[in-house]
Amino acid sequence: MGAGLIGREHAALLRANPRAQLVGIADVSEAGKSFADGLGIPHFTDVGEMLDAIKPDGAIIALPNVLHVDAAVACIERGIPSLVEKPIADTLEAAMRLVEATERTRVPVLIGHQRRHSPDISKAKRMVGEGALGRLVAVNGMWMADKPESYFDVEWRRQAGGGPLLINLIHDIDCLRFICGDIDNVMAFTSNAIRNFEVEDTASVSLQFASGTLGTLLMSDAAVSPFNWDTAAGQALYFPHQPGNSYFLAGTKAALALPGMDLWRHEPETGNWQDPLVRQHVSLDGSKAYENQLNHFLDVTAGKAKPLISARDGMVTLATVLAIARAGQEKRPVAVSEMLS
Ligand SMILES: NC(=O)c1ccc[n+]([C@@H]2O[C@H](COP(=O)([O-])OP(=O)(O)OC[C@H]3O[C@@H](n4cnc5c(N)ncnc54)[C@H](O)[C@@H]3O)[C@@H](O)[C@H]2O)c1
Repeated sequence: MGAGLIGREHAALLRANPRAQLVGIADVSEAGKSFADGLGIPHFTDVGEMLDAIKPDGAIIALPNVLHVDAAVACIERGIPSLVEKPIADTLEAAMRLVEATERTRVPVLIGHQRRHSPDISKAKRMVGEGALGRLVAVNGMWMADKPESYFDVEWRRQAGGGPLLINLIHDIDCLRFICGDIDNVMAFTSNAIRNFEVEDTASVSLQFASGTLGTLLMSDAAVSPFNWDTAAGQALYFPHQPGNSYFLAGTKAALALPGMDLWRHEPETGNWQDPLVRQHVSLDGSKAYENQLNHFLDVTAGKAKPLISARDGMVTLATVLAIARAGQEKRPVAVSEMLS
């Protein structure tokens, strides 16, 4: 559903996966119809009509944010598992409607935070969980890239609900929640000084995790930089690969920078800031986030796995990002629980 920027990537991934078959495309635009016609895939303008006509085993929802929940509920009503692109919804009320529907019916919904399926992110989660860094003290992350002017020809990307907090930083928040646990409180400065759109183009964010760990994030979609996970990891579908790091985790025993997977420790391990640091490269399995996500979704549709990112989990990630937006607007610290209550 939705053959736009990411929908077309999902179509390519589905067609390349021997376990899957792309059987229908719903999109209201002429461009969407020509795309479907070009692939020889049945085309529909209405998502419900497509579900009734095709009765698919699963659906991938790559529509504008505001349409995610209605489309996912349409799947649930028909017993069809869905992969819902992030953010789960444009508002928490809408997200709650989807959480309620999936938990009541047990028809699975997987939220499309693909980075959790990436080997560096899952390895970092394991290492932190196993205490490889000691007690986690502080984390730092960056997502800065320069989007072209043409990206903003699409109206919803310039309006509330379509800015880079909800489109981009939400991935970083989801990763950090996955690796470090829930975030309780946030503070933020947001700015639209470069693009002058209704939505922000730049933000600096301060985080307090439930564990007591503190964090900071810098985000901009108007700045040239290799300091974003998509570029640094080489995992994203339409970013160049410039190996480097975008997340920095520091604990009482060691530090980890990813996606480069540099683990820093003292030599000897009992040393302190006056002793040398050694860098060890942590090796990964080389698998790809979007392919892993699709394979996981195929397992979910077959009833072999539970969604790695449930609707409730996706809702908490959304609540955290909306808390950041509110903190920036109201210039005060905001508790994530305030957004959820
Ligand atoms: N996970 C990722 O890496 C990633 C990357 C980009 C976008 N996204 C998310 O994917 C979603 C889509 O983003 P995009 O950039 O591809 O948007 P887009 O505007 O390029 O594509 C959306 C498509 O939906 C179609 N559409 C609109 N209303 C419709 C309706 N009522 N019925 C059927 N089709 C309809 C449009 O014609 C368009 O082709 C957003 O939620 C975005 O946040 C995720």
